[in-house]
Amino acid sequence: MAESNTDTKSSNQMWGGRFASGPDAIMEEINASIGFDKKLFAQDIRGSIAHATMLAHQGIISAEDKDKIVHGLNTILSEIESGNFEFSRRLEDIHMNIEARLATLIGPAAGRLHTARSRNDQVALDFRLWVKEELEKTEKMLTGLIAAFLDRAEEHAESVMPGFTHLQTAQPVTFGHHCMAYVEMFGRDRSRVRHAIEHLDESPIGAAALAGTGYPIDRHMTAKALGFREPTRNSIDTVSDRDFAIEFLAIAAITGMHLSRLAEEIVIWSTPQFGFVRLSDAFSTGSSIMPQKKNPDAAELVRAKTGRINGSLIALLTIMKGLPLAYSKDMQEDKEQVFDAAESLELAIAAMTGMVRDMTVNTGRMKAAAGSGFSTATDLADWLVREAGLPFRDAHHVTGRAVALAESKSCDLAELPLADLQAIHPDITDKVYDVLTVEASVASRKSFGGTAPSEVRKQIAFWRARN
Ligand code: ARG
Repeated sequence: MAESNTDTKSSNQMWGGRFASGPDAIMEEINASIGFDKKLFAQDIRGSIAHATMLAHQGIISAEDKDKIVHGLNTILSEIESGNFEFSRRLEDIHMNIEARLATLIGPAAGRLHTARSRNDQVALDFRLWVKEELEKTEKMLTGLIAAFLDRAEEHAESVMPGFTHLQTAQPVTFGHHCMAYVEMFGRDRSRVRHAIEHLDESPIGAAALAGTGYPIDRHMTAKALGFREPTRNSIDTVSDRDFAIEFLAIAAITGMHLSRLAEEIVIWSTPQFGFVRLSDAFSTGSSIMPQKKNPDAAELVRAKTGRINGSLIALLTIMKGLPLAYSKDMQEDKEQVFDAAESLELAIAAMTGMVRDMTVNTGRMKAAAGSGFSTATDLADWLVREAGLPFRDAHHVTGRAVALAESKSCDLAELPLADLQAIHPDITDKVYDVLTVEASVASRKSFGGTAPSEVRKQIAFWRARN
């Protein structure tokens, strides 16, 4: 799509009636949005076709003019799609680029399209349509990511790994359970996406500049034609808020934050020191100097994309802060933030879905790590409460002494001889060894939402039914 800046310095053909001369070069440069809002061409044309059709239906323009307009707009759509459209910066934005081309194609009838509308409701419409489509795409992509996790969780419902707090070994969990934690996070992100679609599902077109219009338009008709639930209810609000875009960015930021935590875990897990997972060749890179290396670049970049997305959210919040109602040109700065964040988010979700599906899980390494670091100490304390009737605080203390002893002997809790354990507390019997293995520990945590394989399978079934 070429962009020309060779037009001469005459006033703007779309609004230049009261202007004697054209804008200064700097004015033109700061004012133009065509460089980025050309992305909205399909939405702009859809909106204009719905608007023209409604105008004709209401008898505001003739059926012949409507037919010419619709035909011309469809021609422009194929011109842009095939790269045969010359965008002009002098015409500022996508709306005026399309309308000017329409005038060239069909003559004076083109001038009737802008009856009963303004670029203010036009841009609000185009951008809403774009964000709505992006949200729908995000919803599908999150469903794909959740599906990838459900498959891995099913496969590893029994695979034991260390659970961490403070990144220190805490208690054994299953890898399936860990995967399901991400299913919960991305499931909430997806439901935020669904709510955002509901919030923005109102058609702005017909709000006109800010006050509505005196023409007998039918906003319900255009809303329906464009796939919106209903028209917006306040024309001032319609052209002056961009909260739908901010909501998209906020969701992108939260999802990006979740993705970055997963990315960080993959970075840690794939180190030779951890060795919990091996990334496929498809999702890692080599080093140009160190032949042994396999770097988790995709995960690192997903982690970094969060920075860009957060930046976009803060940028748009700041652009909108303190703007008086209704439209101000400041709002033109909304689009690049959303386009950039959307591209980052799509890439990040796609890369993560690929990595989760492709990575090889080293269950042996996970299990070995799960057993080290006295991860079953809580199980010993719980056993003392249950079997020996100790108050939990006392059991905690007794267990602490057992851990100290095992540490001094450089062995695990399960390797301490019974005599040693009985010296710490006489009521300990050899039954205690049943709870000191990681498998027993994990299997015992059957509380709702707990890590026992039986519970994890229940949660997988819950999500399968909803995905
Ligand atoms: N390019 C503008 C934007 O993105 C379109 C709306 C212009 N409206 C106006 N009254 N100048 O916000």
